[in-house]
Amino acid sequence: MRVLKNSLGISHEVVEKVVCAGDIVVDATAGNGNDTVFLAKLVGDSGHVYCFDIQDKALENTREKLINENVLDRVTLIKDGHENIDRYVEAGIKAVMFNLGYLPGGDHKIHTRPETTIMAIQKSLELIVPHGIVMLVIYYGGDSGFEEKDAVLEFLRELDCRKYSVLMYHFINQINCPPIAICIERLKG
Ligand SMILES: C[S@@+](CC[C@H](N)C(=O)[O-])C[C@H]1O[C@@H](n2cnc3c(N)ncnc32)[C@H](O)[C@@H]1O
Repeated sequence: MRVLKNSLGISHEVVEKVVCAGDIVVDATAGNGNDTVFLAKLVGDSGHVYCFDIQDKALENTREKLINENVLDRVTLIKDGHENIDRYVEAGIKAVMFNLGYLPGGDHKIHTRPETTIMAIQKSLELIVPHGIVMLVIYYGGDSGFEEKDAVLEFLRELDCRKYSVLMYHFINQINCPPIAICIERLKG
């Protein structure tokens, strides 16, 4: 078995360390619902997941997966941009997951965008508890381009290191722009 998982696997390993039964968490990009199901299982019956997507198709796919896994009652599905997270979610959440890019199997022209992604990360960083995390997986190159990755990295490099710790997991010897995983931990209240 491989020691180093891919970026998605790494993001799950990190989130698993932080999120416990009873926690409130957010999936900022529902897509096909894989991360939503993962989070719903972690928080258990007593926790809750808020999940966002701008596409009906993504929310339908996510709902179906949640029903199949018998965890729909732990999740609120929200058809709105994650940049409006503060309209739906109160402070005190343990983790927010972002999986940037387009819906796999969907329209590649509908994808996350630098301005709204950065606004959503900024708001998420205010909503998480101390030692809570924002976890990002960034797809870039190909149809996704480089603009979003570059803008997000520029924003994260400027975060105050007394308040937030930012770690990037980046494979440096792979071809074809392997996705990057980034974990941001809130250090202080
Ligand atoms: C790479 S997919 C997510 C994959 C998903 N995590 C999974 O497990 O299948 C990215 C998703 O972000 C959604 N998206 C794009 N802009 C958004 C926004 N402003 N707010 C919320 N979701 C958005 C897209 O519709 C797409 O479904």
